[in-house]
Amino acid sequence: MAKVITVSILGVGARGGEAYGRYIHASKDRFKITALCDVNEYRLEKYGKIFEVDKENRFLNEEEFFKEKRSDVLLLATMDQMHVRQAVKAIDLGYDLLLEKPISDDAEQLKMLVEKAKANNRMVMVCHVLRYTTMIRKIKSLLDSGAIGKLVSMDQTENVCFWHQAHSFVRGNWRNRQETTPMIMQKCCHDLDLIQYFIGARCKSVASMGSLAFFKPENKPEGSADRCIDCKYKNECKYSAYTIYLTDWINGGKQETFPYNLITDVLPLTEEAIIDSLKNSKYGRCAFACDNDVVDNQTTIMQFENGVTATLKMEGFTARGGRDFRFFGTEGELELYEIEDKIILRRFMEEPVVWKISELVDELGGQGAGGHGGGDYRMIDSLYNIYYGDKFSADSSIENSVESHYIALGAEKSRLNGGKLVFLTDYRD
Ligand SMILES: NC(=O)c1ccc[n+]([C@@H]2O[C@H](COP(=O)([O-])OP(=O)(O)OC[C@H]3O[C@@H](n4cnc5c(N)ncnc54)[C@H](O)[C@@H]3O)[C@@H](O)[C@H]2O)c1
Repeated sequence: MAKVITVSILGVGARGGEAYGRYIHASKDRFKITALCDVNEYRLEKYGKIFEVDKENRFLNEEEFFKEKRSDVLLLATMDQMHVRQAVKAIDLGYDLLLEKPISDDAEQLKMLVEKAKANNRMVMVCHVLRYTTMIRKIKSLLDSGAIGKLVSMDQTENVCFWHQAHSFVRGNWRNRQETTPMIMQKCCHDLDLIQYFIGARCKSVASMGSLAFFKPENKPEGSADRCIDCKYKNECKYSAYTIYLTDWINGGKQETFPYNLITDVLPLTEEAIIDSLKNSKYGRCAFACDNDVVDNQTTIMQFENGVTATLKMEGFTARGGRDFRFFGTEGELELYEIEDKIILRRFMEEPVVWKISELVDELGGQGAGGHGGGDYRMIDSLYNIYYGDKFSADSSIENSVESHYIALGAEKSRLNGGKLVFLTDYRD
C-alpha cells in the first residue's frame, strides 16, 4: 500500500482551506489531514467538518496547537507577518513545512530560517506554485535547450487587473504596509522567483520605481459615498464594489469563485450575504476611501550575475489578469501570454511555432485544473512525489525561494530611494 503523508493546516483561509486543503483532503490515497488551527471559529468548524478532522484536533489558538507535533507536514497558510514566527515553532517540533509565500520581508529572518531548517534537517517547501505549472516548465525547457540561443534579456509583466487591484490591494488583506509585506513582495515574489529560475543565476543588482498613483482620497468622485452600496455612482464607477461583487456575481451565473467567495464566510453564497458584506465588511468600501497605502504600479530592472538583464512591470491598471513574458536570445525570441493561452517561439529566419498552453501535457498528465494554472495542485503532487525520496530536492525549496525575496527587498529599497541601484550582496552577506 502507498504511504500516506499526514498533514496539519495552520490557517484554513483562502489558501490553506480552499486552494490546498480541499485537494489534499480529496487525495486520500496520498494524504490525511490530521489537525487544523485557525483563530476564526467559523472556518475552523467548517473545514473541520469538510476535512473530517476530529473535534479534539481542531485548535483555536496556536499555543495549544504547537504543544506537540501532530503530523509529518505542516501547511502554514496564515498571513505574511506570522510566517517566520510560526515556522520556527514548527521546525523546533520537527515538522517538515509547506510554507506560504512570502516568507518574510526581513533579510535577517530569511537567512535565519534557511539556517534553522538546514540545522534541523527539515524540508521547507515554499508555495511558489507557478514553478509547477506545465507552461513554466515548457518555457524553462525551451530556454535550457537553447531554443533561442543564448538568453540576453527578458521582460515580464504582471497584469494585476483593475478589479483585482481594488479587491486585494486597495480594500483587502494586502492594502496596508503596516499589516503586510510590500506589494513587490506580496504580488510579485512569484514573478521574481520565475525570473531568476529562467535566467539561471543570482540577481546582482536592482532598481525600481513605482507609486500609489490613483487610489487616493483626492480622486474620490464628488458627492460619492464611503460605501459603494450607498453611492450614486455605484453602477458606473469602474471600481464599484456593488458592481464587482454583486452585479457581476448575478450576471456571471452566481458562481462560488474568487473573489465572491472571499468577501463573506457564508457559503453557499447568497445575495443577502453579499449585501451584508457590502454594508459591513472592508470589501464594501469606496476604493478612494480606504486605509490603503501600497503601490498600484511598479517597474523594476535587474541585472544577473551571468550578465542577463530583466524588467518586471507590476501593473494594477490592466483590463485583464495573467502574466506576459518575452525572452530575447541570440537566435530568437520566445513569448508567453497566459491569458491568450499561447507560447510562441520565433527562431530568427524560421516560421514561428505556437503552442496552446491548455494543450500542454507533462509527466503529470496535462495542465490540470485548479488555481494558478494548475500550479496549486501540482505543487501538492510534487510534494508527495519527493517526500519519501529526496525531499530536499523541491523546485521551490527555501534556498531557491529566498533569492526572489532578496530581489523584492532590493526593489522596494530602491523605490523608496528614488530608483537608486541596490546591490543584493547587501542582503545575502
Ligand atoms: N502561493 C500563492 O500564490 C498565494 C496566493 C495568495 C495568497 N498567498 C499567501 O497565503 C497566505 C494566506 O493568504 P489567504 O488569502 O489564505 O488569507 P486568509 O485571510 O484567507 O487566510 C488566513 C487564515 O489564517 C487565520 N489566522 C490568522 N491568524 C492566525 C493564527 N495566529 N493562528 C491560526 N490561524 C490564524 C485567519 O483566520 C485566516 O483564516 C498569505 O501569506 C498570502 O500572502 C499565497
